[in-house]
Amino acid sequence: MVVLFGATGYTGRRTAEAMVRRGLRPVLAGRSPGRLTSLAQRLEKLGFGKLDVVTADIGDAASVRALIGRGDVLVSTVGPFIRLGGPALSASVDVGAIYLDSTGEPPFIRRVFEEFGPRAQQTGASLITAFGHDYVPGNLAGALALGSSGGRVHRVEVGYLIGGTGRSPVISRGTFASIVGLVTEQSFTWRAGIKPEPTGSRMRTFSVGGRDCPALTIGSTEHYSLPRLAGRVGLPEVDVYLGFFGPAARALQLSSRVIPALLALPGARSAVRRIGQFAAHWIAEEPDPSALAQVTSHVVGTAYDAAGTALAQVRLESGDPYQLTANLLAWGAQRAAEHGVSGPGALGPVEAFGLPALEAGALQAGLRRV
Ligand SMILES: NC(=O)c1ccc[n+]([C@@H]2O[C@H](COP(=O)([O-])OP(=O)(O)OC[C@H]3O[C@@H](n4cnc5c(N)ncnc54)[C@H](OP(=O)(O)O)[C@@H]3O)[C@@H](O)[C@H]2O)c1
Repeated sequence: MVVLFGATGYTGRRTAEAMVRRGLRPVLAGRSPGRLTSLAQRLEKLGFGKLDVVTADIGDAASVRALIGRGDVLVSTVGPFIRLGGPALSASVDVGAIYLDSTGEPPFIRRVFEEFGPRAQQTGASLITAFGHDYVPGNLAGALALGSSGGRVHRVEVGYLIGGTGRSPVISRGTFASIVGLVTEQSFTWRAGIKPEPTGSRMRTFSVGGRDCPALTIGSTEHYSLPRLAGRVGLPEVDVYLGFFGPAARALQLSSRVIPALLALPGARSAVRRIGQFAAHWIAEEPDPSALAQVTSHVVGTAYDAAGTALAQVRLESGDPYQLTANLLAWGAQRAAEHGVSGPGALGPVEAFGLPALEAGALQAGLRRV
């Protein structure tokens, strides 16, 4: 059984549609019976048949646990994950389910790998976090570069770069809320082990189609999974950069140096959260579809030796990042339900599904190699 928790949100609705288009019949789960019923009716009108709906609220842990049993697949799009993601994760670990989510939030990813992963090893649960635009493409590009480097790799660097954005915002209110939540939280990188560092503390410029794209560091699943893929050969350094900020990148990088000091002031964290919640009212729940249709996402994975020479580079491209997220979650849920995943614990996308299957699934989801 596949359960989609958060089905009534923006990403959830798009994921529900991607799932039924693949022939899946997910149970639609969420906190609002009215919104669940109208989603189920809309999908039925589109010709996908009548789906089951179940009410569950993260404030009632038993209702979340009742959604799934051992071996079921739970896909969660209930975010911001730092604030709302824990109950679905805990429930999946407790019952021994296969869990996938749409987070992109470094502190949540860190909890999945470091806190919940070891518990999942004991219960037989499999946890595949951040299985969307953030951060499947970088795991794939990084693993492919690692595999074709033909030498001793010292560092893998991944860049996520967005093109085609105009004046209309191309993020949902839910994504905005997740980004705001990150301002007050520590991120990390990989230097022969996970090392804490603020989001955006380092910057570099990537070239995409002859255009310069400034990008800032962020903690993601590549930091956990690529060193494991490198095995005994080892991978001392992993860096992941996001290039979504355009000319604001430099200011954001400078602010990442002052923010930790400011946040140490009494009341600063809750003030930032309140300002963020207030500002979210100006962001539409759904991004403008015509603006999203113009967006191109480029992901570059490069393997370097210890002298800084590039050994291999893999470039991937997709369109609308939300459609890619929905398609990836739908593919991952179906693959997990029909073939299982590689084993228990917290798994990166390549570890969970294997490189050939993930590469084929990502292509079906709209991620092509260029
Ligand atoms: N990794 C990526 O590339 C990627 C891509 C897309 C989205 N995301 C992330 O996915 C998350 C969702 O984004 P979105 O745009 O879909 O946001 P959204 O529209 O606000 O959806 C949030 C969902 O959480 C549900 N929810 C909130 N409180 C709940 C509670 N107490 N109990 C049960 N469900 C609850 C909402 O239910 P209601 O419908 O009843 O309000 C809604 O279904 C965000 O964290 C976003 O950053 C990541």
